[in-house]
Amino acid sequence: MQLAPGRKFVQGDGRELVRAAIVSGVVSKTPEELADIVSVFASSVGWIDKVRLRVEQRWYERVHDGPDYDIWVISWMPGQSTGFHDHGASSGAFVVAAGILEEHRPGERTRVINPGKPLAFGPDYAHDVRNVSLAPAVSVHAYSPPLGDMNEYELDGAKLVPRDRASGKAEPVNQEWRVQTSKWTGALSIEQMLSVARARLQRLSPDEAYEAVAKTGSILVDIRSEGQRAIEGTIPGALIVERNVLEWRFDPASSARLPIATGYDLQVIVFCSEGYTSSLAAAALQDLGLSRATDVVDGFHAWRASGLPILPSGDMRG
Ligand SMILES: [Fe+2]
Repeated sequence: MQLAPGRKFVQGDGRELVRAAIVSGVVSKTPEELADIVSVFASSVGWIDKVRLRVEQRWYERVHDGPDYDIWVISWMPGQSTGFHDHGASSGAFVVAAGILEEHRPGERTRVINPGKPLAFGPDYAHDVRNVSLAPAVSVHAYSPPLGDMNEYELDGAKLVPRDRASGKAEPVNQEWRVQTSKWTGALSIEQMLSVARARLQRLSPDEAYEAVAKTGSILVDIRSEGQRAIEGTIPGALIVERNVLEWRFDPASSARLPIATGYDLQVIVFCSEGYTSSLAAAALQDLGLSRATDVVDGFHAWRASGLPILPSGDMRG
């Protein structure tokens, strides 16, 4: 695999990165290649809809299992962490797709890992990765050779000390992915719910929504109450479907669906007054299988402020 020109990634351990190595007759990927692999995977479509959140443990799934490398998707609820561990003989790379993670290494400053910038490392690299934010996070990881035995450590001052293991053998993978939770009470605040919803949406500005409707036949849907529409005005051409019936009107399998709701490929662009409820509503439509559902950032207020067409309050023709 060729690296994309100009692609930058954070070098995990500050050393010269390991070049391709021959392991068991299979050419391993370099950390640079793994960084590219996780970036390409994270920017592909379709996979994030399959991510699940688990309060009791980190959710993870091996989404590719090849002879030379594997790819894992992991979700992290607030407070979940790996504990200190290495990856055995594997090189690795990971990228945050949604949310924020932190990486801890003994004697080094905490590294905040924001979406889009992969972190890559060679074999024998040890770290502790944590979600210390208030919102869930999702990350994509690749290892080469594919992840095998891993070792867990405890921090003793500035040093990592291997955890005592009665068997004397490395922990199996499933043990490594076991969860440590703290501070997490099992409830999501409304801000966290919004973060989860918006992590799945490709939200649109009013201008982008206007263009999507004009050029691609997307459906603009006003989910505000009648009272809000009467006070604020409406958008000409927008379909009015109040929030309490939204899912029944757009589920293609619903007997109460609208005639237009015949398939899952329909792009429904929801808006409300200020773009909060609409994010939750669009995520609910995605749960129904309308994977292109999204909403308008800052809602009707931003649409009006952008100078896009509206029918002022009192004129309810729209
Ligand atoms: Fe790791």
